[in-house]
Amino acid sequence: MAKASAIANANIALVKYWGKRNKELMLPQTGSISMTTEGLNAHTTVEFDPKYREDILILNGKEYGKGDEEYDDYVGLFLKVVREKYPEKAKDLKVKIVSNNNFPTAAGLASSAAGFAALAAAVNEALKLGLREKELSMLARRGSGSATRSIHAGFVEWHRGENEDGSDCYAEQLFPPEHWPEFRLVIAVTTKKDKKVKSRAGMSQSVANSPYYKAWRDDVIPKHIETIRKALGEKDFKALGEAAETNALMMHAVAIATTPPVIYWNAGTMDIVHAVMDWRDQGLECYFTIDGGPQVKVLCLEKDSKEIAKRIRGFPNIEDIIITRPGQGVKITKEHLF
Ligand code: PMV
Repeated sequence: MAKASAIANANIALVKYWGKRNKELMLPQTGSISMTTEGLNAHTTVEFDPKYREDILILNGKEYGKGDEEYDDYVGLFLKVVREKYPEKAKDLKVKIVSNNNFPTAAGLASSAAGFAALAAAVNEALKLGLREKELSMLARRGSGSATRSIHAGFVEWHRGENEDGSDCYAEQLFPPEHWPEFRLVIAVTTKKDKKVKSRAGMSQSVANSPYYKAWRDDVIPKHIETIRKALGEKDFKALGEAAETNALMMHAVAIATTPPVIYWNAGTMDIVHAVMDWRDQGLECYFTIDGGPQVKVLCLEKDSKEIAKRIRGFPNIEDIIITRPGQGVKITKEHLF
């Protein structure tokens, strides 16, 4: 039976990925570093079977197919890659995919990362492709760039690679979750609504015309990759937090300077950004990072996470608060969704 299920966690970038050098192969302009979260997951079941006449995609209870962006621009493209790469296994078979996230989709909580990591792993298992972690990270990349990092547990680096065919572009673990179990992200969800500009479109425009893109790619990223790798290795929270926060601000500076502008922040985002800087001045150790959406992720250590969550709860524009820690990589599960 060509049916399998997988669970993958979202990841949050400490050094952001913002821009591709090859859109078809999903090759990034730069490397990036992330933390795989615990408990913010996508659970996905796939079944390849001749009984299906068309691909069926059900995301969080809603059905999508040809003509819908979710299928045409994302899952359908990914399936095309799978069918081209493994024609003997998948070319003539349609698939049913059911996937559920346990956190807000498309609002800067890396739902596509968790979703495509789970989908790649489930497809690998169902079709018996025999891909190991490195190859699996390369397959997940074809669905969504950041998904390449969600294959692995803990702290993860996605290598830009040099080859035009993407053969050296993959993610690998830097440190397992046990390396820094006290590390926490307190996520302030400032809205659960879908974002207006998808990361894919936003970053593509930034590469095309942001006047700051070259500095981001050539100066900022190489420096931050070195700093964050070292800070993670030494568990130097201050060095890590400072670099991660600056990196996020610089990514958003690149995005905001794009034409048309890509602005992900809302009033709630700004409240928490200012608060984190104030709290830090008062001696509470915390930093923030923000992705392609309005949520603020506050970096802190376990000892301060409850106090930070309590303070965030006091703001008017907060819809939810999630505390997460370094988590597991993708796993196959026997629990099928249909
Ligand atoms: O993989 P995508 O297309 O969802 O892009 C992710 C982009 C950011 O979340 C903003 C940064 C990152 O490295 O995850």
